[in-house]
Amino acid sequence: MPEKITFHQIRKEYADRGIDESSLPKGPMELFQQWYAIAEENQPGEWVEANAMSVATAGVDGRVSNRYVLLKGVDADGIRFYSNYDSDKGRQIAENPRAAASFLWAYLGRQVRFEGAIVKTSREDSEAYFHSRPRGSQLGACASIQSAEVESWEVLGERKAELEAQYADQDIPLPDNWGGYKIVPDRIEFWQGRSNRLHDRIVFELKDGQWRRFRVSP
Ligand SMILES: Cc1cc2nc3c(=O)[nH]c(=O)nc-3n(C[C@H](O)[C@H](O)[C@H](O)COP(=O)(O)O)c2cc1C
Repeated sequence: MPEKITFHQIRKEYADRGIDESSLPKGPMELFQQWYAIAEENQPGEWVEANAMSVATAGVDGRVSNRYVLLKGVDADGIRFYSNYDSDKGRQIAENPRAAASFLWAYLGRQVRFEGAIVKTSREDSEAYFHSRPRGSQLGACASIQSAEVESWEVLGERKAELEAQYADQDIPLPDNWGGYKIVPDRIEFWQGRSNRLHDRIVFELKDGQWRRFRVSP
């Protein structure tokens, strides 16, 4: 029998890296790019995806949902991921175009949180990304009515096989209900674990087109 886990006994001390405020770039997106590059370089194994982020959305009924997606682009004004527009998240985003996203790079003792508006990316952007994916992934995206109840895994396989036959010698067209989303943040928080629970939390908030930076208590 495994011993019962007593969560209050699990206590990790973070390496005291600290955030040097004197050397921070002016904008949070630059800082995010720096932190992301470090997170990717230091991935402790193939099983860790530094670009995995949890994205929370809520519809007008107030129900909050959250799921992991993969970061697939960083622009000057936001971060992109790709999904099905008719999924649960797609419906919530259509009703309430706000989202929050967070990255956890536990091996660095770091978290980054985004909050902001969420918009669909252009069809050109979605086309470019969709066609950069392996053919199998393109077919999988077409075969899946994401978030809808499905009878079995086999049914999905049959749908994929039908599409494979249908598009045998052709490019697979981008489905109308599939494409990119961009979270355009108005608040980004950088969290660095430090010793004695006196962690760093540096927040950037966008007001009248200007980023204001401040520290908040851990
Ligand atoms: C590591 C990881 C990465 C994922 N990446 C994506 C992604 O990029 N896009 C996506 O639509 N779903 C992705 N998923 C699946 C989502 O977590 C989720 O199951 C799906 O998008 C349906 O969510 P919804 O029903 O809330 O719309 C990923 C799941 C995991 C665990």
